[in-house]
Amino acid sequence: MQQATHALTAGEVAAEWERRAARDGLARVMRASQPTALAESTTARTRELVAGHLDRLAPVGSALEIGCGMGRLTPTIAARASRVLALDMTGPMLDLARAACAGLSTVDFHRAPVQEMPVPRRKFDVAVCVWVLMHVLDEDELAEACRRIAASARHLVLVEYERAHVPVGRYSRLRGLADYLELLPGARLVERRELDYGGDLSFAALIELGERA
Ligand SMILES: C[S@@+](CC[C@H](N)C(=O)[O-])C[C@H]1O[C@@H](n2cnc3c(N)ncnc32)[C@H](O)[C@@H]1O
Repeated sequence: MQQATHALTAGEVAAEWERRAARDGLARVMRASQPTALAESTTARTRELVAGHLDRLAPVGSALEIGCGMGRLTPTIAARASRVLALDMTGPMLDLARAACAGLSTVDFHRAPVQEMPVPRRKFDVAVCVWVLMHVLDEDELAEACRRIAASARHLVLVEYERAHVPVGRYSRLRGLADYLELLPGARLVERRELDYGGDLSFAALIELGERA
């Protein structure tokens, strides 16, 4: 863990995401300070990494995308799964994701914070979560989110910042892959790859999740 605990509440973080959804283009979900060309090439690389992990699990029946944002990655997931449930806590982000997935009949949307998402009776084959858990600042809420993820899916593709070249703001918290593995009951790392976004280093991990406790 690299930073002191934030005093921000979950409500303040939610309000910030409503504000970010009103930005233009990829700045809605990526660093507004980075040039568009870098955001675009990093997005292409992120899609490639997510696709690579999903291809390793093929065939994928059901996928849960946690924190789908503007739907930057949702069509990539939908191309590799029979059905996708895309979840986000921010209404305007879900509206953008619905527009990005217009014409994709296998994608459904649900609004909920990950730490409160309902646990399904039948597990998803895979959950995909890219740059979302770093915005869950409170450690108890993060632990609850990880419990729900582990109870909801058989595998997890997890991408989160581990090291930031430009210090992250008050709305993010850097944690290492080991921190997440510890919080995910029964987790086993299958493969770790890396994603460099202008000097900000993220891990892109494929994780097998254990049986429901
Ligand atoms: C950095 S964006 C990433 C979006 C998408 N995963 C991508 O890579 O393009 C973070 C997204 O997570 C959502 N989010 C943040 N905290 C969340 C939480 N606790 N539960 C669900 N969604 C959350 C935000 O609304 C936002 O859409």
